[in-house]
Amino acid sequence: MTFPAETARLTVCDWLAEYCASRGDDSLGQGICHAVLAGGKRLRPVLTLLWGRRFGAPEHALREACLAVELLHTYSLVHDDLPAMDDDALRRGQPTVHVAFGEAVAILVGDALLTEALGRFGQIEGGDPERSLKALDCLQRAAGDQGMVRGQLLDLLGAAKSVEDVVEVHRLKTGALLSAACEMGAILGGASAADQDRVRRFGFHLGLAFQARDDLLDDVGEEAALGKPVGSDADRALPTLLALLGPHNCQLRVEDETALAMDCLDGSDEVEAEIGALADWLLARQS
Ligand code: IPE
Ligand code: IPE
Ligand code: MG
Ligand code: MG
Ligand code: MG
Repeated sequence: MTFPAETARLTVCDWLAEYCASRGDDSLGQGICHAVLAGGKRLRPVLTLLWGRRFGAPEHALREACLAVELLHTYSLVHDDLPAMDDDALRRGQPTVHVAFGEAVAILVGDALLTEALGRFGQIEGGDPERSLKALDCLQRAAGDQGMVRGQLLDLLGAAKSVEDVVEVHRLKTGALLSAACEMGAILGGASAADQDRVRRFGFHLGLAFQARDDLLDDVGEEAALGKPVGSDADRALPTLLALLGPHNCQLRVEDETALAMDCLDGSDEVEAEIGALADWLLARQS
């Protein structure tokens, strides 16, 4: 089954290609382009774009928000793969940045991507500056020490014992950013507080489903499709959802969380129906 929001994905890919075309030609610029252009599903910016369109956000503001969330996500992958973290050699079907360019450059590529990501909000011309600031605030909260970075620390400590502990790590390391990706679109479109809350809840449940499926794919996935190593979590004996629940119940969690996400959608709206199709596709994703 092909990715349902393919047109939105291609738009995001064009924006990322334009962004990379203006990078420098040294190892930093090359490392950035290597990480960004290697591929990836572009799920987070596609969600920003679709939710933004749902609420009528201006396209030029969505361009910057999409770039921001994907650059930030890419930084998180570059650092996640470092020897001090997951120590993985393959990402998006390519050697990881530290393998291709060395560890110091990989750290700097991550630093640059994060800084560039947050800087995109200053590039939004016209529009509503208050909404741009709110979107920036939403993203940086999700990514920082109360969000993704904290989740990464908890993940590395590997101290989670129960399913609830692991879900809390998932909420922080993955759910927070995925939810912010959705919420930013709603913020830039000036959605009501009730709609913003609904969109946030959708993203939260989708994020939990997404990471549960990611844990499962460490066992049942194939390296060629995933573009990253299989068995990496198991090698490090990480307390993942898969390790605690086994494959069958892990997939049931994917389905339960997806159903909770779907409950937040208004399926009679055309764009929300497309978002629902995307959530449905993620249930059985192989990449
Ligand atoms: C990988 O994210 C990191 C997790 C949060 C599981 P994706 O599976 O979205 O990676 P790309 O962007 O498609 O490469
Ligand atoms: C990473 O989780 C989440 C991030 C914040 C990058 P994983 O370590 O499970 O992601 P993969 O499996 O390497 O993509
Ligand atoms: Mg990790
Ligand atoms: Mg990893
Ligand atoms: Mg993983």
